[in-house]
Amino acid sequence: MPSNPSEFEFVPAMSTIAREAGALLMEYFRRRVKIEYKGEADLVTEADRNSEALVVGRIRELFPTHTILGEESGSLAASQSGSGSETKAGYHWYVDPLDGTTNFAHGYPVFCVSLGLEYTDAAGVAKRVAGVVYDPTRDELFSAELGRGAYLNSVKTNVSATSRLSDCLIATGFPSQKRHKNPNIYFYHQLTLKTHGVRRAGSAALDLCYVACGRYDGFWEFNLNPWDTAAGALMVQEAGGVITNFAGGPFDIASREVFATNGLVHDALKQEFEEIFAGRGLEPLPSPVGHARESAAGTKPRP
Ligand code: IPD
Ligand code: CA
Ligand code: CA
Repeated sequence: MPSNPSEFEFVPAMSTIAREAGALLMEYFRRRVKIEYKGEADLVTEADRNSEALVVGRIRELFPTHTILGEESGSLAASQSGSGSETKAGYHWYVDPLDGTTNFAHGYPVFCVSLGLEYTDAAGVAKRVAGVVYDPTRDELFSAELGRGAYLNSVKTNVSATSRLSDCLIATGFPSQKRHKNPNIYFYHQLTLKTHGVRRAGSAALDLCYVACGRYDGFWEFNLNPWDTAAGALMVQEAGGVITNFAGGPFDIASREVFATNGLVHDALKQEFEEIFAGRGLEPLPSPVGHARESAAGTKPRP
């Protein structure tokens, strides 16, 4: 195994693994799986677990010196020690075996397998080196390797050229746990009023890939986990986009703030975030009570 990640291509092997896991997910999807609950509305299915077992097994066969963080199994040590095993140096995988479990469990066809690979050098500096996200419902494979560009089904892809916030289609997500503690509804409301619209499709890894291929002009979310973003973050960067925290500082996979755009609207959107966090210019939500009253009285004008 080379110590310099640029000497090696990981995408072919990652793509094979992601496609295999995607095929397994589709088998479960077609026969509507049994839902279990981790807590609140946080779902997990047999498909999540078996997809992860498949992915971890393949990584172990092909790359026994690599460590893995899988959503369902947590941190897994390398099955064989590598040359740098006494330090943290080496390759580290982030595996989301099924991103979009809620969609999957309800038969809504927006979900994927996400595999991100990071390399930490002897000085402890980590770099995202490769990422693959596979959407088996559309047979779309998004892939990126550091310094080699971003691809959708082997065709080079780029972020959009939209430069005005008012012309943007953007996306966000809401967590499945502790939703009452999440202020994102204010962001959703304000930005719905300032753009062509905000989508909430339910798969953060795909949301990032959609920024990378220009379907969305931007995406943000609070409280994501490294396995949600490791692959998509590299896709965005390799497609010419920008990914940061909400203040525009460097994106840190552990930071729980993900903000990605085509680069052209990054500052404008960041400015909106600043205003919302400061509570300035918040457009009040129209009252549902007022709506019900007008509707009952037959006085509500048609928009
Ligand atoms: C979820 C999805 C969703 C996001 C949630 C994530 P999961 O991942 O990415 O879009 O809004 O915060 O937890 O649980 O389906 O792997
Ligand atoms: Ca996820
Ligand atoms: Ca998942």
